[in-house]
Amino acid sequence: MSDKKTSSKMEKVISLSKQRGFVFQSSEIYGGLKSAYDYGPLGVELKRNIMNEWWRTMVHEREDVIGIDASIIMHSKVWNASGHLAGFSDPLVDCLISKERFRADKAPTPNVGDLLPINCLDKGQAKDYQKTILTRFNIELKREGKTLNGLKVIDESTFGFFQEDNKEPIETFDYKGYVSPTFGSPFLSDERKFNLMFRSQIGPVDVLGEITSYIEKNNKLNGTELRKGIEDIIDKSAVYLRPETAQAMFVQFLNCQQSMSMKVPFGIAQMGKSFRNEITVEHFIFRSCEFEQMEMEFFIEPGSQKEWLNYWRDRRMDWWKSFANHPEKFRYRSHEKNELAHYADACYDIEYEYPWGFDELEGVASRTDYDLKKHAEHSGAKLSYFDQQKQDPETGKNGWRYTPYVIEPAAGATRGLLVYLLDAYHEETVPDADGKESSRIVMKLHPRLAPIKVAVLPLVKKDGLPEIAREMVNKFFKAGINARYDEQHSIGKRYRRHDEAGTPYCITIDGQTREDGTVTIRDRDTMKQNRVSQNDTLQFIQKKLMEA
Ligand code: GAP
Repeated sequence: MSDKKTSSKMEKVISLSKQRGFVFQSSEIYGGLKSAYDYGPLGVELKRNIMNEWWRTMVHEREDVIGIDASIIMHSKVWNASGHLAGFSDPLVDCLISKERFRADKAPTPNVGDLLPINCLDKGQAKDYQKTILTRFNIELKREGKTLNGLKVIDESTFGFFQEDNKEPIETFDYKGYVSPTFGSPFLSDERKFNLMFRSQIGPVDVLGEITSYIEKNNKLNGTELRKGIEDIIDKSAVYLRPETAQAMFVQFLNCQQSMSMKVPFGIAQMGKSFRNEITVEHFIFRSCEFEQMEMEFFIEPGSQKEWLNYWRDRRMDWWKSFANHPEKFRYRSHEKNELAHYADACYDIEYEYPWGFDELEGVASRTDYDLKKHAEHSGAKLSYFDQQKQDPETGKNGWRYTPYVIEPAAGATRGLLVYLLDAYHEETVPDADGKESSRIVMKLHPRLAPIKVAVLPLVKKDGLPEIAREMVNKFFKAGINARYDEQHSIGKRYRRHDEAGTPYCITIDGQTREDGTVTIRDRDTMKQNRVSQNDTLQFIQKKLMEA
């Protein structure tokens, strides 16, 4: 999809999100924090509705799944055992010219024979970079406006500097296979691992004080030795914000299984905040540093992982599609062997076709027995399961003790919210009150996800109509349905406002209501209006929500 189309749909959704109160930039009045977002009055409802629907399907409606709500801060040994302290990192690279820092695995990858123009922001910057390259690498690139030319990929590990029409390079350099994303520079540092977990300190410790006196006492140490000593001080009281909700389900496996007498196969589900110090935050709320996940660890017998992986992949795909206007925009993709996380023997991504192309929405992974075994090894706890009914396949004796394998459907709740905003966004040409063509934006959110289920609108602010409307709104509240009383602006404007908010039904109280007790119910998508008895409105909406 073209960049223009990508940006226009995203820009429209981002703009509507702000105007209507779905999503705001965090700390906007201070210039905004790029990596974090706030969910506004409609966004908070939409997010909760998505998460509640997930909980209902994954926990309430299943006898084989139970839920937990664990703390965000866990013992730091958890992250040691899970491998997150050692391995949860992105490969980071610095451009030696512009100082731009970026993820190597996300950078553009020019091919052998491609020219490598360095694209600067303006002529002044181009002159500066030309000088820096001359000083550091002893070559003078040709400046054409704001572009520096002369570099070309020679083979998979070499690029060279070519002058004018010369076929032979004047100088060659190591090529890493990629260039910096903003400037296209191939002059890069080595890759460094950057841990994605947010670290803090717990307890009444004066870490800065300890570090200061350590440095004072050890002023003869070199940089590496000092760093090691400082890390040891920090590690004593270090805690981490969880980068996934999953680990608590492994750590609490025994407590959950025993307290609820669960028999394998069974699952433990959790939803909530996770935090990752992402280098590349992108596409609005698609990738942010603070986000919400909905994860379930499903514990199974070793050997049954293929069958359960396919089962959960299909259940999860059906679930996402069941709330969508455009189910054809979802697909799944099997991971190649070299993509698999260290703990997985197979994995499917459920992908959505975002304006920039297909990308991940949820991962459904076959996590083997890796996590339970690691936590057993590091904690000493016996994280296994005894099945009295089964024979041990090795000894042939009755009763089998084993470490369960795990299938993990791991979804992003905030990423799901973006998907449903994109799916719901529609621009339509419709007849106005006088039958003339007019355009409207309508958020066709699934009625059960819609922030407001029903808006109750008195046609005028007098003649007892507001009182009837308010009484009706209270009836909806008592039935657990989020309704909204709305008397601001003309009725046409109110309908448009609720179309943009995704409110599936608008009930209008008018003069006739006082005469015969009937009201109109307007359907957001068809814009058709039905006149029904005001006493039947609750039942009408309840039926619609159940059938949706
Ligand atoms: N426990 C496995 C796990 O966390 P993951 O693929 O890293 O797997 C699962 O994350 C889902 O969480 C992703 O498919 C995505 O929807 C969401 N997610 C991950 N990182 C995110 C981020 N930085 N911002 C928003 N959502 C994110």
